[in-house]
Amino acid sequence: MTTGGRYILATCFIVVGLLAIMPSLKRDGVLRDGPSLHTRLKRITGFSKQLKFIHVTKSGGTSVENAGIAAGIMWGRAHKEYGWWHELFPRKPSALKEKYDWFTVVRNPMSRMVSEFHCRWGGVGDNVAQHNVSSFNEFLQRNIIGKAYLGVGDHYSAQVLYMDPDIPVRVLRFENLTAEFDELMTEYGLDVSLQFANHMPHKFSEHDFYPSTIALIRETYADDFTHFGYPTGIANTMKEGG
Ligand SMILES: *[C@@H]1O[C@H](CO)[C@@H](O)[C@H](O)[C@H]1NC(C)=O
Ligand SMILES: *[C@@H]1O[C@H](CO)[C@@H](O)[C@H](O)[C@H]1NC(C)=O
Repeated sequence: MTTGGRYILATCFIVVGLLAIMPSLKRDGVLRDGPSLHTRLKRITGFSKQLKFIHVTKSGGTSVENAGIAAGIMWGRAHKEYGWWHELFPRKPSALKEKYDWFTVVRNPMSRMVSEFHCRWGGVGDNVAQHNVSSFNEFLQRNIIGKAYLGVGDHYSAQVLYMDPDIPVRVLRFENLTAEFDELMTEYGLDVSLQFANHMPHKFSEHDFYPSTIALIRETYADDFTHFGYPTGIANTMKEGG
């Protein structure tokens, strides 16, 4: 074989080898942790999937989608092919799941529940003025018990249910979203920046939870606390956003 032939053969082996190990690199978190590795592999192999978004409720998803739309990228509610954008990701067809790279944003379940209560869709929205600490707790407990286990995906669904056993999903944290989002965009070479909409201050906070509400959240979302590494105490600050 000529030197040129050997060179071409060797290059083919490297490219095929890289393609073969990409899924395991992703699964093992190598790609997730190394911002430049994805970019480097992409440059070498020319292989890259488009990045799409999984919208867990009350975790900044609307801001993420709006940032995408402003940059001409269809994520979440704007990604028509995805269908119902709060549906649990593992329920989606394999062909869709395998077609793209995926990211999502998760949040401490305690502050997420405060946000669910104040939400226009999952909570009381504009009727918040009529509520007191007692009805705040009663509403949350009723909705957590009634909706956490529906198994379809929507408000009050456990966040861990959006993780797929077969498809890697890149997880960003709401608590550090700007930095982690910017890092991901750099990795994928996307020019998208987050703008958070101004929210009305929340009337109630984690400090208004009854002990029975705290216990219910800890029990119902136990896997969210462990899987995503959130503390099970309540926040030591009154600041509440989202
Ligand atoms: C709290 O609000 C609920 C529902 O609006 C009302 O029925 C109840 O009487 C209120 N409780 C107190 C202590 O104000
Ligand atoms: C926030 O995200 C950035 C980018 O990933 C990371 O370097 C930093 O350590 C994170 N900060 C916290 C408090 O997690």
